[in-house]
Amino acid sequence: MALTGKRRKDTLHGDCRTRLTRKNNTRGHTSLPMQDLDRLSRTFHRFAEQECAGMSALYESLCHSLAEDRDLLAISANARLGQPVPNLFMAAVHWLLLAGARHAVTDYYPDINSEGPARGDSYPSFRSFCRDRIDDITALISTRLVQTNVVRRCAVLLPAFAVAMGREQERPLSLVEIGASAGLNLLWDRYSYTYSDERRWGDPNSPVPLSSVIRGSLRPPLPESIPQVVFRVGLDLNPVDISDRYAVDWLRALVWPERVDEARMLEDALEMAKDDPPEILAGDALELLPEVLQGIPSDSTLCLYHTNTLNQFPSEARERFSGLVEEHGSVRDLSLISVEGRAGHHHCAVELTQYRNGLKTNRRLADNDSHGNWIQWLESGNALTGSKD
Ligand SMILES: C[S@@+](CC[C@H](N)C(=O)[O-])C[C@H]1O[C@@H](n2cnc3c(N)ncnc32)[C@H](O)[C@@H]1O
Repeated sequence: MALTGKRRKDTLHGDCRTRLTRKNNTRGHTSLPMQDLDRLSRTFHRFAEQECAGMSALYESLCHSLAEDRDLLAISANARLGQPVPNLFMAAVHWLLLAGARHAVTDYYPDINSEGPARGDSYPSFRSFCRDRIDDITALISTRLVQTNVVRRCAVLLPAFAVAMGREQERPLSLVEIGASAGLNLLWDRYSYTYSDERRWGDPNSPVPLSSVIRGSLRPPLPESIPQVVFRVGLDLNPVDISDRYAVDWLRALVWPERVDEARMLEDALEMAKDDPPEILAGDALELLPEVLQGIPSDSTLCLYHTNTLNQFPSEARERFSGLVEEHGSVRDLSLISVEGRAGHHHCAVELTQYRNGLKTNRRLADNDSHGNWIQWLESGNALTGSKD
């Protein structure tokens, strides 16, 4: 059900028109202090170098050029405080293009131009589009948040769930996801998986096929069967409502143009979830967690997990979170799977913290790409039984 630029044009143009505040108070660059523009310029250059290089040639080149363009930097200054400005700006333009805006810049977007992206310098065209749609872009970046839901991260979570279930693979599971966004990664047991070592897992008829590359010589374990999930809930400060077309389109616009397969996985997962969306409680996980934990069936294996979320917690909140988990781990067995960035590295790490009879253990199970494109398993031996041979 991959959406092409054409189909989106037909379905979204109306939304785009009615939901945007057209006459927003757009600031010209003359009203901004020079140091603000300089700071934004550095932010765009840094984003291009550190995040786009090797991931999106289009965004890398556009963001380097935009960093030298005082007019567009002034538009970008309308982002809400604390938001990653380049991601927001590029998503706003992408949103308008996916919604069917007719402009030559679409030729450069691999997910819109089905004939393959045009060659040459995309910036003059991009700049002209941004100048034409200045009010729409301002309205989007001053109201929207950078909040994604990357479904392929489930391919990294799956082996960690296998380890968390350990010897009790038949026991039902209770799942609590912290920072669930649209909740798509709460449905990991309904997807099918193919790894580069040709192993497959899950319902082969699942409408959401995921794939990931295994790096290194160790094979990640996979659950022995599809588990029975008796409890699943997500917690999020700002749950994405997948019945809201506008919210879903924004989620899609945040996927970078070169990541055509990531967009397809997102669309497949949204389609599957829409008839039976997972429950997500709105609020601060620290406030919600104690009560949620009280409701978990005692005869299930409890797995808490979070992916690319704890970086949004201030350090004091991270400590409170660990304290809450520790407190609960002293009264019942539980596993906490963490998939988060590693300081000083471009990739992430999968860690498993377990409480068994009040005893805490912590292991780094794997390294992984932040979007689930690859996983490198780090433990030898039989991870399900704990045997070292
Ligand atoms: C980068 S997104 C990751 C979403 C999802 N885990 C994934 O990997 O696709 C981080 C999510 O954490 C949520 N979040 C941040 N701080 C939170 C808090 N204190 N309590 C609950 N959710 C929070 C955000 O609203 C956002 O949806």
